[in-house]
Amino acid sequence: MRNLILYKKVSSTNNIIKEYELETIVQAQSQTAGKGRYFNTWISPKGGLYFSYKTKFSENIIFTLIPIIVGIACHKVLQTLSSERIYLKWPNDLLNEEKKKIGGILIEKDKNKNLIIGIGINLFAQELKENKNFDNLKIKDQNLSKIWILSEIEKEISKYKQDFIKNKDEIFVYWKKASLYKKGDLISFLYNKDNKISGEIIELADDGRLLVKVETEFLYLDFSQIRNIMLIPS
Ligand code: BTN
Repeated sequence: MRNLILYKKVSSTNNIIKEYELETIVQAQSQTAGKGRYFNTWISPKGGLYFSYKTKFSENIIFTLIPIIVGIACHKVLQTLSSERIYLKWPNDLLNEEKKKIGGILIEKDKNKNLIIGIGINLFAQELKENKNFDNLKIKDQNLSKIWILSEIEKEISKYKQDFIKNKDEIFVYWKKASLYKKGDLISFLYNKDNKISGEIIELADDGRLLVKVETEFLYLDFSQIRNIMLIPS
């Protein structure tokens, strides 16, 4: 287990961790200004698991693959804890069977190019009951500690960090099984800010980008360029 620093309440663990050295994890019971992707707020009431891990991956991993790897690491751990099926929505949203969001990942870089991997898992938050888009993970063993879950996730991330090349094929096989999207599914999304586009899923590219066919053209989607991805019912 890494250096683990526990806080009761912080603004955002992704900010607080900047003061700490490499290979530290900062966990908080709640966040007052939890950050989501695309400058969204991550609602972080007491009960949930919120942590950030400062680390480095080997130089030969392309940055666009890191969210995919971290998403798979979280999925592996959460799927073993839950009685319901969990999906990965590209690049790394974690959804439950009802397609409600149970977890999210925000990856940033600090000024020294270290990775700040921020993970939020909705666990026992009363506030999420009746929410249309978010839900708590349904866990079989309600007595599991959040620190245990966090350390299992960190172990999975570290496995990929150490031996990425050896695990490369497994990553793509795993993603296909866990992915909400299947080849041929139609999605709509906002591209480069506000352009609403629809396209057909082709595959997860080698570098973690999503290959989509838009009319007659093929487009590689980078997670930093697109948001609001929705499945179009067939
Ligand atoms: C998303 O929009 O899906 C990403 C959500 C990431 C939330 C986590 S909670 C721990 C860490 N601290 C933050 O402020 N955000 C991340």
